[in-house]
Amino acid sequence: MNAAKSSKTARRITVLGSTGSIGVNTLDLLGFAAGRGEVEFELEALTANKNVALLAEQARKFNPRFVAIGDEALRDDLKSALSGTDIEVGAGPAAIEEAAARDADWVMAAIVGAAGLKPTLKAAQRGADIALANKECLVCAGDVVTAAVKKAGGALLPVDSEHNAIFQVYDFDRPHRISRLILTASGGPFRTWTRAQMSTATPAQAVAHPNWSMGAKISVDSATLMNKGLELIEAAHIFPTPHSQIEILVHPQSVIHSMVEYVDGSVLAQLGTPDMRTPIASTLAWPDRTPSPSARLDFAKVATLTFEAPDPERFPALRLARDSVERGGVFPATLNAANEVAVEAFLNGRLKFLDIAGVTEHVLAEVQRRNGPARLTTLEEVVAADQEARRLAAEAVAARAAA
Ligand SMILES: NC(=O)c1ccc[n+]([C@@H]2O[C@H](COP(=O)([O-])OP(=O)(O)OC[C@H]3O[C@@H](n4cnc5c(N)ncnc54)[C@H](OP(=O)(O)O)[C@@H]3O)[C@@H](O)[C@H]2O)c1
Repeated sequence: MNAAKSSKTARRITVLGSTGSIGVNTLDLLGFAAGRGEVEFELEALTANKNVALLAEQARKFNPRFVAIGDEALRDDLKSALSGTDIEVGAGPAAIEEAAARDADWVMAAIVGAAGLKPTLKAAQRGADIALANKECLVCAGDVVTAAVKKAGGALLPVDSEHNAIFQVYDFDRPHRISRLILTASGGPFRTWTRAQMSTATPAQAVAHPNWSMGAKISVDSATLMNKGLELIEAAHIFPTPHSQIEILVHPQSVIHSMVEYVDGSVLAQLGTPDMRTPIASTLAWPDRTPSPSARLDFAKVATLTFEAPDPERFPALRLARDSVERGGVFPATLNAANEVAVEAFLNGRLKFLDIAGVTEHVLAEVQRRNGPARLTTLEEVVAADQEARRLAAEAVAARAAA
């Protein structure tokens, strides 16, 4: 982590996953900042997976040098949508990696899921500052990604609002003076639901987050609280504080985005409205600040901040994540991949809500029977662990669907 790197006011920018929730917020912010001349930027590349229409619209507005669509079959659609421009077009996973490898100072890593790993690594290996939204990268390959960032001399700038909050108040020069990190959680849409109610939860109910507007996968993760579990693992990679000193606290108003407790008992927090443009802005101009159009906190209106301990009985994902980070090795990558497969099956109507954690726990137990490496230090090891967990999870989903 290079927390002392100097400010750049002109930045060449790439947005990986520009058509998603984070990607759209990033471009919205760039449009806002450009109008005010606070941050000068030029766009190097934009990428998406299937959404040709939005990618083309973004490209026509922001004029990047290169755009890539993940689905190879959509190459011609993207080309024709950009006819008459001189924007280069690529398609397929290799083109997404090419976008990441192109010369940009700042790369927003906002592809969802493990698909974001290779492109993010490419950008990190080139020495770009990485605005990291994709939490799955650190969960399944934290050692590999942080080593790549360090070796190439870039900065890892967390976008996830909790880690971004901690990043803003964490004393990287004196980490031994920090006694506790407190990750706050909204509690998601099922915070007050019983397990019996959750057993019949539908995808539409699960993605209806009370405070944040996000992509479908992370919204389901917020409903199971796996999102907080993934964030626990993510935090253990970003901050030099042992995972045993990282706590999770439910805070339904989502005003305090996380806190750092120092050895003298002082607790420093970062607060704001639940709008991802605030953390994105803080990484965009870092270590400087740039204005964001996000709504300001009205403390009189907020009036009350409440807190409660998370319930591990109703939200077993927290226990699975805590166990995985304690065991290390293949377990965090296994947790992530199994959860990804289970969430997709739930969103497609093939798995019940409570079975998301059930499938993930089953896969972790299967993997525990074998002796995987104590640490995943190469991309190949990460990919192998990820693929094995996906295979086992797909089998478990199929078995439950057939039952
Ligand atoms: N949304 C939030 O507020 C938030 C907050 C904190 C962290 N995060 C993290 O940020 C990441 C992005 O979240 P999101 O909510 O923005 O997700 P999202 O709305 O689902 O967007 C995902 C983006 O990734 C692209 N994509 C999906 N699969 C891909 C593949 N196989 N290859 C290449 N590109 C692919 C999508 O393209 P298409 O549009 O073409 O499908 C889209 O641009 C996630 O890791 C999430 O956990 C999000």
